[in-house]
Amino acid sequence: MGSPRWKRICLLFLVGLTFSIIFYGHYYSRNSPGSPRTAFRLLQQETLGLAQAEIPQNARSHGLTRESIMKSLCPRSLKSKVKIDPMFGKQFDFDIPVLMWKLLFNPETWDRLKERNVPYGWRGLSHAVITSTVQLLNDSDYSRLFSKIGFPDSCIRCAVVGNGGILNGSRQGKEIDAHDFVFRLNGAVIKGFEEDVGTKTSFYGFTVNTMKNSLIAYAEYGFTQVPQAKETQYIFIPSDIRDYVMLKSAMLGIPVPEGYDKGDKPQKYFGPAASAGKFKLLHPEFVYYLTERFLKSELINTQFGHLYMPSTGALMLLTALHTCDQVSAYGFITQNYKTFSDHYYEHEKKPLVFYANHDMLLEAELWKSLHQVGIMKLYQR
Ligand SMILES: *[C@@H]1O[C@H](CO)[C@@H](O)[C@H](O)[C@H]1NC(C)=O
Ligand SMILES: *[C@@H]1O[C@H](CO)[C@@H](O)[C@H](O)[C@H]1NC(C)=O
Repeated sequence: MGSPRWKRICLLFLVGLTFSIIFYGHYYSRNSPGSPRTAFRLLQQETLGLAQAEIPQNARSHGLTRESIMKSLCPRSLKSKVKIDPMFGKQFDFDIPVLMWKLLFNPETWDRLKERNVPYGWRGLSHAVITSTVQLLNDSDYSRLFSKIGFPDSCIRCAVVGNGGILNGSRQGKEIDAHDFVFRLNGAVIKGFEEDVGTKTSFYGFTVNTMKNSLIAYAEYGFTQVPQAKETQYIFIPSDIRDYVMLKSAMLGIPVPEGYDKGDKPQKYFGPAASAGKFKLLHPEFVYYLTERFLKSELINTQFGHLYMPSTGALMLLTALHTCDQVSAYGFITQNYKTFSDHYYEHEKKPLVFYANHDMLLEAELWKSLHQVGIMKLYQR
């Protein structure tokens, strides 16, 4: 059945050649003073990437934009590992939107999401607040964490840095900062721990509740401010109406006008120069999908089930796994977590506390499996 093997190989070669010519033209017209050698290297990688990934699905379904071609160029992308894994191949859906923004918001979205509780939907939340917030996320920059244009080897490498005690004395800082993007979350103390955790923060993930709690609980360890570097962008996890209200105020640059955080100045958290373009919002549907497919805990069936959701760290790591080509996780829970303190910045060892709202052991299993099959690298010691 089907065409003979040599025919398929010829076809693939032709398709590869065509793509290369398109790409070469693009590259050359954009970078005419650039060195032809770089272009040649890119060309070689492109052909290689295509041959391994066969014909990329997104080239077929979305048309041949430069970016969609670039997406499939990373030869050792985690996507290629996912694809061949019998279990994770069924769990991952790389087409699901990660971020909520204006174009994804319509009456059907509202009707669907108003049936689900936060963080998976908008049940009981004000239509006016949700609408006015999402309307502000009004261009395609809000639909993605980063653009792939400008990454010559087209493999986007991300480090996600949890706050686990395993990082104390780890000396991973240089390696972490060497990634294209570094994700951090909640009480991400940097000062005094640069050698262990690095300094770069491309994305800071949080809920308003976890951010404010971290500023209180970890102030004594030096967490007096969330990262505010020029390149830092903020990923809001929509766990409560507070997150929408704070996001809207931050984008408008005004004090929070209502609700639990009324009077709070967003500048206090995100810095005086935080422009609207720095803020992103996880899609409630994405949080639902992650929970259903990857972290469906038994805790959901207990009396605290309504409080359960994946941890902030888990949501950030899974976000990276759905947006980056290569992912390394640092400071996440490992099998030997009892050897380490709760956080890397504690002066004396404190045990990791398990709360009813997260399932850290289930998360530990997931990180271990993703590491074992080579989809991501989990820092362990
Ligand atoms: C998005 O909204 C902002 C603020 O209302 C406005 O300045 C900007 O022009 C809008 N952008 C687009 C693409 O509509
Ligand atoms: C973390 O490292 C610091 C400095 O090396 C050390 O003083 C402290 O005791 C360590 N904390 C724990 C919990 O091991």
